[in-house]
Amino acid sequence: MSDAFQTIIYEKQANGIAWVTLNRPEVLNAINMQMRDELWEISHAVADDPDVKVVIFKGAGERAFSAGADISEFGTAPSFVESRRARQERDLWGFLLISEKPLVAAIQGYALGAGIELPMCCDFRVVSEDARLGLPEVGLGYIPSAGGTQNLPRFVPPSLAMQMILTGDPIDAATALRYGLAHRIVSREKLYEEASALAGKLASQPPLALSLARAALRGSLELRLAEGLKLERALAARALARAV
Ligand code: COA
Repeated sequence: MSDAFQTIIYEKQANGIAWVTLNRPEVLNAINMQMRDELWEISHAVADDPDVKVVIFKGAGERAFSAGADISEFGTAPSFVESRRARQERDLWGFLLISEKPLVAAIQGYALGAGIELPMCCDFRVVSEDARLGLPEVGLGYIPSAGGTQNLPRFVPPSLAMQMILTGDPIDAATALRYGLAHRIVSREKLYEEASALAGKLASQPPLALSLARAALRGSLELRLAEGLKLERALAARALARAV
């Protein structure tokens, strides 16, 4: 693992909680290619680190979790084909979705584009009262491409997902909570304390059962009931084999 990240801060605590801070506050933590690469690197490092039980993502500064992909890099990749290949080879969002460790996002201020797509790859979203969550890509002539069109309707009703993505208008924290995109709303002052308490609870759970339950729940979003029940039986057998 690289010691010198430029765009993120990595902090590992003795209690099994690791914090990953998106650290470009001067551009509202916009996710540039370097940050995506560093997130890729740290995601693999924590996956391999038995001391890390839970990861919390947060944004540096006062104004945003992240204002999304760095728009100053749009159209600057070497070539469209090359940038698409790089994305396929290092599918950060897909990797987060199959993480065996629980992921928590602590969201303050703006969470736009990839700045809400990353939290949607997490298991929990704790948001501060001032959070604004939205997907503005269509207005820029793009569509969400870090999983937004597929993950959002799995959290909120399809009608709201359609509204958010086609208009680009963000929703507030209360709306996110009402429809299940956020798990809880807290004051800005309590955001990291709450996220930490939640992560502490998760870190105290048996890790194998936690990751098997996560895999079963993720499966339920994609499988037919009969297949989902089959998956649950297989995962339950693994948990049982370890428990006895
Ligand atoms: N990429 C690159 N830079 C960004 C950025 C992004 N996604 N979002 C914000 N910034 C930069 C701004 O360019 C500005 O830099 P500057 O001080 O050098 O001019 C700085 O962050 C502060 O943003 P600013 O626009 O001045 O703040 P604001 O309060 O007026 O507006 C937002 C806040 C979030 C509404 C606005 O920044 C915005 O719409 N950002 C783009 C969001 C977006 O489209 N993201 C999805 C991309 S697919």
